[in-house]
Amino acid sequence: NGRHGRPALTVYLACPRGFCAGVDRAIQIVELALEKYGAPVYVRHAIVHNRYVVDTLKAKGAIFVEELDEIPDTDAPIVFSAHGVPKAVPEAARHRRMFVLDATCPLVSKVHIEAERLHDQGAEILLIGHAGHPEVVGTTGQLPEGAVHLIETIDDAKAFTPRDPGKLAVITQTTLSVDDTREIMEALKARFPAIAVPRKDDICYATTNRQDAVKRIAPNCDRMIVVGSPNSSNSLRLVEVAERAGCRAAMLVERASEIDWSLFEDIRHLGVTAGASAPQVLVDDIIDAFAERFDVTVETVTTAEENVAFKLPRPLRDMPAA
Ligand code: F3S
Repeated sequence: NGRHGRPALTVYLACPRGFCAGVDRAIQIVELALEKYGAPVYVRHAIVHNRYVVDTLKAKGAIFVEELDEIPDTDAPIVFSAHGVPKAVPEAARHRRMFVLDATCPLVSKVHIEAERLHDQGAEILLIGHAGHPEVVGTTGQLPEGAVHLIETIDDAKAFTPRDPGKLAVITQTTLSVDDTREIMEALKARFPAIAVPRKDDICYATTNRQDAVKRIAPNCDRMIVVGSPNSSNSLRLVEVAERAGCRAAMLVERASEIDWSLFEDIRHLGVTAGASAPQVLVDDIIDAFAERFDVTVETVTTAEENVAFKLPRPLRDMPAA
């Protein structure tokens, strides 16, 4: 036992973790729009997949909807979420003369542009991603119906029949498992040697770095907590990565208050990370909750430095950073 009779616990804190540049920008867009134009600000879909972030913005006057037709005719700004939207959405907004602030992450927009370029060159497009995720819906929706085929698994990659194997290209969701995606890419390349692949894949720097940091600490952890919401793709991937890298049990936790303490009874080494949409205050709360029960020593384990930042949409560039 450590000081005060509490059991000793080493917390390995993964770095990088938490907010990426795209999430930071998206949240700033809603906050600055509220400041500049006043409430309400409409947001199409959860701005980022984190319940605490959404609730905090709601309290400041943001109104969240799933589709534009839920929004009355208004001069208020309409923000598109970081995940991106199908082309039909900005078209509908233009038609209704809506004032749009697009919070689509620039790294998602990059994939959209790539999809269009490949399609214009006559390629049939495979998108590696998770069915139903808004980013997949948005990327698929850049092109006409049927132009993009979703590949979720190795089996999908093995079963796919192209129109012309000489005219195939592949793109990916930005928040996938780096290792699973590599395997699927290899399976596709083996079957279709002429397939056009991105230089690496479209998985973003933030997803890659958070997975790398988890891989580094996982072998030394009895348990791993991934701070994040259940609809956050990149957070779910961190749970899988942690277990595959040797942590006996990893779990997603949204808030300190929901921790099941029976799962942490005899542990000595705890890993902590956070998905790209999870704010640091939630991480702090969780570490504080452990510190009430254990004699905690925090060791930050850094595997990469990040200095990515994205420009705000033009109408908000005159605002001081929030
Ligand atoms: Fe963008 Fe990657 Fe974050 S695509 S929103 S930087 S997780």
